[in-house]
Amino acid sequence: MSAIAENMKTLGQMAKGATEFDAAMARSAASTIAEHASATPGLFEANETDPKSKARPEIWTNFEDFAAKATELEAIATGFSTSINEPSDFNAAMGELGANCKSCHSVHRE
Ligand code: HEC
Repeated sequence: MSAIAENMKTLGQMAKGATEFDAAMARSAASTIAEHASATPGLFEANETDPKSKARPEIWTNFEDFAAKATELEAIATGFSTSINEPSDFNAAMGELGANCKSCHSVHRE
């Protein structure tokens, strides 16, 4: 998750214009997000209750939904990793990505 967050930050900074637009870097950040999204369900397969974890029991009572949202993130991020060409492409990209993060966190994270 921290790698996902880090790469979202890279995209967010670029979307805001805080860092210079770099299509190759944006695509690579999106593709790293996709990779980590695809690995996410596997990381949570075992129901390990680490007291420091913010993972909610809903992950395991509804693993199908959890895995589906991770797959959705993978699909969105993969799409952007091939379609970001110019700064205006971020408008749709960030909104779609952000909505997905939220849809999973609101159910599966404390
Ligand atoms: C499939 C569900 C799911 C999706 C999609 C998802 N997250 Fe998470 N996220 C979690 C869970 C569960 C945790 C809590 C993990 C823990 O504490 O063990 C978490 C934790 C985090 C954290 C806290 C730090 C950490 O490493 O635990 C950040 C930051 C974060 N997510 C960012 C994001 C961003 C940004 C996106 C979208 C690009 C995203 N997440 C998409 C499930 C998801």
